[in-house]
Amino acid sequence: MDKKLKLAVIGSPIRHSKSPEIHQNFANQFDAKIEFTKDRVTPDTLETWLADFFKDDGKGVSITLPLKEAALNYADEISDRARLASACNVIYAKDEKVFADCTDGFGLIKDLEENLKFTLKDKKILILGAGGAARGIIPSIIEKNPSQLKIANRTKSKAILLKEDLEGKVDLKEKHLIFEAGDLADDFLLANSYDLVINSTSVSTLAGESIGVPKTIFSGTKLAYDLFYSAEKTIFMQEALENGAKKVSDGWGMLVEQGAESFRLWTNLIPDTSRLLEKSID
Ligand code: ATR
Repeated sequence: MDKKLKLAVIGSPIRHSKSPEIHQNFANQFDAKIEFTKDRVTPDTLETWLADFFKDDGKGVSITLPLKEAALNYADEISDRARLASACNVIYAKDEKVFADCTDGFGLIKDLEENLKFTLKDKKILILGAGGAARGIIPSIIEKNPSQLKIANRTKSKAILLKEDLEGKVDLKEKHLIFEAGDLADDFLLANSYDLVINSTSVSTLAGESIGVPKTIFSGTKLAYDLFYSAEKTIFMQEALENGAKKVSDGWGMLVEQGAESFRLWTNLIPDTSRLLEKSID
């Protein structure tokens, strides 16, 4: 049993990923031996990379942008939460099969409701972006019964597709949820105020870039949450604070909590996240 558990995080860009440190912290809590690598993998190289990894006795992989949707194609079994999201952030080998799961929604809700004490029930929520990251979190948000959910994306058709996809899978009428999808245009965004604004776009990975939304969307916002994490406040967080948001957070807590849930899937061990959460910025 001295063999190290082979784990990895893949995506592009990948250099900024803190997943190796997070999982090493979890492993240390149980004296578990792991080898956790960080590899730059694009949609073109995903299939070969995964085949090689599992052939080489790999156990689990964290999947980050832009692979969250594509990676589903390489699993034998897809969990309910990944199917609902049409995206996965974790893939692992078990019983000679490859499983895909989505722990992002779990991680976000845990961070919002337990760590930041922000309850989603009856809240008005705006999500910027409609890629794999948005897909990963939306089903878990809907489950918490907000009163309103808007998805706004640069490419409007992608936001509408995401909404229609979910409408086919979840009984939204029963939830009395006002659910809308549109683009980043002023008239769509400014029709409401929002308790919570979530940035799920990949803009924060591009240094110095702004999403380009009207700044007035943040007036009345209780929390502006960036799924991305960084040592300094992201431009989204800075703009939110400067324009009326009461509180901002980056995605560090979500990253730690989704990681803990992924670690549980790989090892059956439930790590303590409190020490890592203290390192959170803001
Ligand atoms: P992820 O898995 O992180 O969601 P993705 O599927 O590539 O990655 O999605 C990236 C998201 O960021 C998309 O919503 C994208 O908008 P488009 O669908 O129009 O491409 C959004 N995005 C990326 N760059 C952006 C920018 N400069 N301004 C606004 N939105 C941007």
